[in-house]
Amino acid sequence: MVTEVNYNPALPIPNHIAVIMDGNGRWAQARGLKRTDGHSEGLKALKRVVIAAHKMGVKVLTAYAFSTENWKRPITEVNYLMGLPKVLNDEILPDLIDNNVQVRMSGNFDKVPLGTKKYIQNAMDRTKDNTGLILNIAFNYGSRDEITKAVQNIATSVANGDLKVKDISEDTISDNLYTAQLGEYADPDLLIRSSGEVRLSNYLLWQLAYSEMVFTDTKWPDFDEAIMQECVGEFQRRNRRFGAIDTK
Ligand code: FPP
Repeated sequence: MVTEVNYNPALPIPNHIAVIMDGNGRWAQARGLKRTDGHSEGLKALKRVVIAAHKMGVKVLTAYAFSTENWKRPITEVNYLMGLPKVLNDEILPDLIDNNVQVRMSGNFDKVPLGTKKYIQNAMDRTKDNTGLILNIAFNYGSRDEITKAVQNIATSVANGDLKVKDISEDTISDNLYTAQLGEYADPDLLIRSSGEVRLSNYLLWQLAYSEMVFTDTKWPDFDEAIMQECVGEFQRRNRRFGAIDTK
């Protein structure tokens, strides 16, 4: 849980923050609204958080927008979530462009409906030359699916004779994940999950091996710059040892 306030701009800032935007449904239900209203407010919160992260100097923000398991939700909710990339384009993208944000996507793009794909592609095309924060949208993303595909690719290279089994390294696996496109920032430094739930939900299982994790009770639609700063402050108070010992 987040314990103290604020961050120190003079201390290291996480280069890559991954967020699990949880609590939209509960936020809406507590106000007598539809669950989908929570997702709509959640998209606005994402814009606030991206701009706040950009101001702090964060390089990449990966947001879990739709998981490979979210297809199990009622069709009306799935359809609503599939419509959000259009809202992103129409209502959010101009402000992201003003902040030099580049949009990318991680996930199984092939299985995203054409109408949705078009808007994600459009957001990526319109921002491809931007040089600021990368908003990496995890859409139809599942970590086990991602790792399974990586294993298939690697096995194919071995079967073709392009790769020897003894040459398979951790880098070979990282290079075959969707996040390889993020280069040196592929692995998040910080994971934030909102709404009080404490689990990973099939998110970036390989990439989070050495990430700091911060869980906050705030429901995602209430997330804002101040809470983002508290989470980064909590990150700054952690002592990352990556399995080694403290020599200070
Ligand atoms: C989890 O909350 C949230 C989601 C499954 C969707 C999150 C999506 C957004 C915030 C919009 C982003 C969209 C794009 C295109 C960038 P939940 O519904 O599980 O909440 P609950 O646990 O309270 O039911």
